[in-house]
Amino acid sequence: MPETTPIFPRPDATPDRTREVPWWREAVIYQVYIRSFADGDGDGVGDIAGLRSRLPYLRDLGVDAIWINPWYPSPMVDAGYDVADYRDIDPVFGTLAEAEALVEESHEHGIRVIVDLVPNHTSHQHAWFQAALAAPPGSPERARYWFRPGRGDSGDLPPNDWRSRFGGSAWTRVADNGAPGEWYLHLFAAEQPDLNWANPEIVEEFEAILRFWLDRGVDGFRIDVAHGLAKHPELPDLGPDGEDILSPGVVEHPHWDRDEVHEIYRGWRRVSDDYAGDRKFVAEAWVADAERLARYVRRDHLHTAFNFDFLVCAWDAAALRRTIDETLGAHTAVGAPATWVLSNHDVVRHVTRYGRAETGYPRKDPQRLHGSPVDLELGTRRARAAALLCLALPGGAYVYQGEELGLWEVEDIPEELLQDPSWNRSGHTRDGCRVPIPWSGEKRPFGFSAGDASADPWLPQPAAWTRLTADAQAGDPGSMLELYRAALRIRHEHLALGDGTLGWDEATPPGVLAFTREPGFGCVVNLSGQAVALPAHRELLLERLWRS
Ligand code: NOJ
Repeated sequence: MPETTPIFPRPDATPDRTREVPWWREAVIYQVYIRSFADGDGDGVGDIAGLRSRLPYLRDLGVDAIWINPWYPSPMVDAGYDVADYRDIDPVFGTLAEAEALVEESHEHGIRVIVDLVPNHTSHQHAWFQAALAAPPGSPERARYWFRPGRGDSGDLPPNDWRSRFGGSAWTRVADNGAPGEWYLHLFAAEQPDLNWANPEIVEEFEAILRFWLDRGVDGFRIDVAHGLAKHPELPDLGPDGEDILSPGVVEHPHWDRDEVHEIYRGWRRVSDDYAGDRKFVAEAWVADAERLARYVRRDHLHTAFNFDFLVCAWDAAALRRTIDETLGAHTAVGAPATWVLSNHDVVRHVTRYGRAETGYPRKDPQRLHGSPVDLELGTRRARAAALLCLALPGGAYVYQGEELGLWEVEDIPEELLQDPSWNRSGHTRDGCRVPIPWSGEKRPFGFSAGDASADPWLPQPAAWTRLTADAQAGDPGSMLELYRAALRIRHEHLALGDGTLGWDEATPPGVLAFTREPGFGCVVNLSGQAVALPAHRELLLERLWRS
């Protein structure tokens, strides 16, 4: 009985959900990758109308909140992470009035709304960057970004050796008075110039943007590249041994996880604390270890941060136990709740990851395992166990759209259809985890787009997803969807789950993770490949996770 995860109440269980805990300490937050969630107007791209039509699905699934990926006006060079205007909605997704209606309707369904804030960089089409291009070197317009003269006799070498996360140099040269001129910094695509957060004008503008959305009732923000806003003022070279990605042991990096970022977030916390209704932040911070992550969620700083150590961790009991302990230790020390994340729109879907021989996520070289053999049945079995593990651990959890359907990474999208900017710069694509959701029916687009005359979805869905549609799984007790629904129901009803602590059961065979939570709850995850006897218990709440 490998990879099963029974959850059971212990004999003294007295389920009673009456305590008061701030919602963000234990929320299950569903990530809506809006362009791939549901298409309300039939153009092949998901939108606010589609999302509104699916709110009952999310309510019935039992999630507490949704996080919506960027929906702002954008040239969509990086799927909306290149924002041209932070105070409006891109027409492909709808209108500001529709966004306001969505927030209201979500609240009526008991679902909170978190929007995505992109503060590290703007789009090259943002009015500020256009003004910077039109202004001369040394001007206040250029001081909002990182413009620098090039190196070499004619300035035709980039100002330093920093690398774009999408591949190639992090610098692009502009023309000044019709001749080759200064260079500007972009840690991502060239169309995403980095803002200069040492400039107080940027600080002021983003606090105003926060207020704009808080005034519209949103419950929080996911902060994109939260670890990247501060740069070493002298922009020093990384050097031949320098890391363009942060790893354990790197003490001071010129642009990742610098101490100066925390002052920015203390300011943001003051803004959110000004508002009634418990608004919250979650940081996307890829940092060296749990201790560094915990610095983002100290008192008076941000509320929560994604736990990427858990996401990259291999399907291995000892490694998971270590990661869980380090996470809980570091978060408890600062009084913050942990989060548990298995997938998102940037990484390979975990059904595929867990179906490979190497089950960790290779951070430094995400493409390395692309196309290597996958056993999807094994991956799915592990994904079922992993979901229950996440939902039973103390703290909050994230569900990436489609993981509740057991979707896998689509690795055979024709090259001409790929849209991720990292594809051109590095040959790596994240499009395989962004394929539109299959909702119903036998034929593509599986109910993704409303109406008969709909355009093809912006990325093609595998024909085999016919058996993974939400409709096909609803009511089937052996399905992934019903597993998530049942687990979320139990999580909401059981007093032991959500915020709190755990106690490990040390008397388990190797390859088995077992812990209890009070009052009266136990979780056993068997990664050993061998059948194991369950500890004493009164009742199995959820088990037998695999129908075959
Ligand atoms: C992280 C986002 O999740 C990713 O999709 C995006 O490409 C980069 N930040 C740049 O904004």
